[in-house]
Amino acid sequence: DEGLKIEQEVALEVTGTRISSNLISVFFMNNALGRDPGFLPATANARDVKSVGVLGSGLMGAGIATAHARRGVPSVMVDVGQDRLADGLKRACQVIEGRIKIGRATPQDMQEMLTRLSTSTSRAVFSDADVVVEAITENETLKKLAYGELKSLLRDDAILCSNTSTISITRMAEAAPHPERFVGMHFFYPVDRMELVEVIRGAKTDDDTVATIVALAKRIGKTPIVMQDCPGFLVNRVLLPYMNEAVLLLQEGASMDDIDKAATKFGMPMGPITLSDLVGLDTAYYAGQVVSTAYADRAKPTPILGDLVKAGRLGNKSGSGFRKLNKKGKPEADPDFAPFLEKHRTDNRQFSLDELTDRLFLPMLLEATRVLEEGIVAESHHVDMGLILGIGFPPFRGGILHWCDTEGASAIADRLGKYASLGKRFEPTESITSKRVFFPRAKTVG
Ligand SMILES: NC(=O)c1ccc[n+]([C@@H]2O[C@H](COP(=O)([O-])OP(=O)(O)OC[C@H]3O[C@@H](n4cnc5c(N)ncnc54)[C@H](O)[C@@H]3O)[C@@H](O)[C@H]2O)c1
Repeated sequence: DEGLKIEQEVALEVTGTRISSNLISVFFMNNALGRDPGFLPATANARDVKSVGVLGSGLMGAGIATAHARRGVPSVMVDVGQDRLADGLKRACQVIEGRIKIGRATPQDMQEMLTRLSTSTSRAVFSDADVVVEAITENETLKKLAYGELKSLLRDDAILCSNTSTISITRMAEAAPHPERFVGMHFFYPVDRMELVEVIRGAKTDDDTVATIVALAKRIGKTPIVMQDCPGFLVNRVLLPYMNEAVLLLQEGASMDDIDKAATKFGMPMGPITLSDLVGLDTAYYAGQVVSTAYADRAKPTPILGDLVKAGRLGNKSGSGFRKLNKKGKPEADPDFAPFLEKHRTDNRQFSLDELTDRLFLPMLLEATRVLEEGIVAESHHVDMGLILGIGFPPFRGGILHWCDTEGASAIADRLGKYASLGKRFEPTESITSKRVFFPRAKTVG
């Protein structure tokens, strides 16, 4: 009885709070994604996929091929050399080994995965594939060249997907064998743990192609969100202003630790400086270039990133970036970073936690509202779930648009007003000025 009483008291404490209401919303938004037609008419037909080819066996290619093989879809990885393929195969095995260690897979699963996963240096093996996913280096010229070379090799009805993080699907489709059967299929790193797949429609992508890729993503246990094409798509487009603001804050005098702490206190799984070092400063730099060129009216350049990349400071993968890895492989402050910062320093002042939080999350929120206003995704819950599943935006806040509803658009507009001198990237969007409520029926209590 006493136990039940305690349970009742604790349950009453959490029931009806804003956090519980947000988490319930996340549950329903996730369910809604499972039934989502994703801009598709009822007439769209998903085709049967019996085998998949993956071009590139790097970090992403190996993860994508493994994700299919694990879930019963035979896949073949192609790369430029045997050494690359051996690395890819090693990564594939590490995924299953990791799962065996935590009791989620058996040696039998490893064997089955390996019978379904093959490798080759010849693209001719793609001649049987229903779907080919391109996951080679993030370089538009290289990717287009590869599509041209696939023209004579792919089956006439095969679907070609790109795992590009930022490059326009509509533009690259022109180099593809069939623009109507070319689509973005954007996985997140690490593929075995990240549930989200952005499915990006180019201007000419047909409905059956989108329906096939949505069904394939679900079949391998992922959550697809269908969106229209734009630089950075949904998640990277909204993430990059936040990552960029972190670098600007650093240049203005905030410490790396304080910036990261502001983000983790807000609920992010890690801070933006740590995240940059983890994904690689080269990746952050090149993705940043694509996105900031496209949204030049509000993207403030951060040339320090380019300097760090030129100097070979690529983040954890090269041993140093903003921080350096110590002998135990843990990031720590690096005195050799100081000259880079001094060269680009714009100020040297103190920041409160509130200011750091606003500077990081308000530009992210504004970009999220623009994605919705432009119809890149159809509904508010696509934005919130995309960020929760794609970058670990704190679920207890219900997503970035739920956060806006919780704070209130008027309060957000007031907070933006404090940063008006920073220009367009802090200018309220139509959603904010019109005091839009993104989830009108969501109850927020407490
Ligand atoms: N790393 C991430 O966090 C991440 C996340 C999502 C999407 N992406 C995107 O995925 C793609 C691959 O990124 P990655 O991190 O796996 O890169 P990576 O450098 O780890 O792997 C790229 C692989 O492609 C191979 N390659 C290059 N040109 C080739 C060609 N013409 N034919 C066959 N193989 C070729 C390389 O040998 C290499 O093994 C990029 O478009 C990137 O933007 C990366």
